[in-house]
Amino acid sequence: MTNAFENMDRMYRFQRYFYDLTRKYYLLGRDRLLNELDIRKDECVVEVGCGTGRNLIILARQNPEAHFYGLDASAAMLETAKAKIAAAGLPNVTLKTALADDFSFDKTFGLTVTFDKIFFSYSISMIPAWRKSLENALKNLKSDGELFIVDFYDMKYLPAWFQKLLQAWLKRFHVEHPQKLIPLLRNLEAQGMGKLEIITLYRRYSFIAAFRKNN
Ligand SMILES: C[S@@+](CC[C@H](N)C(=O)[O-])C[C@H]1O[C@@H](n2cnc3c(N)ncnc32)[C@H](O)[C@@H]1O
Repeated sequence: MTNAFENMDRMYRFQRYFYDLTRKYYLLGRDRLLNELDIRKDECVVEVGCGTGRNLIILARQNPEAHFYGLDASAAMLETAKAKIAAAGLPNVTLKTALADDFSFDKTFGLTVTFDKIFFSYSISMIPAWRKSLENALKNLKSDGELFIVDFYDMKYLPAWFQKLLQAWLKRFHVEHPQKLIPLLRNLEAQGMGKLEIITLYRRYSFIAAFRKNN
């Protein structure tokens, strides 16, 4: 993980210029997730792996009285995000370069309280330290806070040839659904740590997980 900053910058240095245009066709379920967040006045919400800021810009426009934070391993992606946020004139978004498994509400963002909501949008599938990142997110969440994830799922109900092709293509970019992710969330629910809801989309092309903490 020590080279995660460099790896992400290398991957996105040029892609960031056409990222939003191309990803809208295959990062499916992002807008559904944004609706599920149900953000209230004064809430603090952070996106882990926010990329070009596409999701934060939509949310910040819709919820001018809430506070949005974004972190990403790629400083290059955040440069693009910062320019877009400035152009949109949104004062309620703060961005920091940081790693998913290492950020904290106080050290990274200078906050005095943990987050109301934390979400990962198509980032957890490209984070080798996904388990540690999930634990870190839960640590940075209020005792009744909510964690959301939208990402590629196992594609189980898509035609086998398409599933194979797509998964092989995603692997080339180091993107893979962590098979133990949903069982881990179910286990946390079984331990009484929260309530889990899973929505599957487009024949399990993608999923949305909502974990509502209760301790
Ligand atoms: C596929 S993009 C998704 C961007 C955005 N969330 C969206 O929905 O458009 C994944 C992002 O995760 C970031 N990322 C990858 N590994 C990371 C890590 N370990 N910590 C923080 N961000 C990371 C990448 O730099 C990239 O910007």
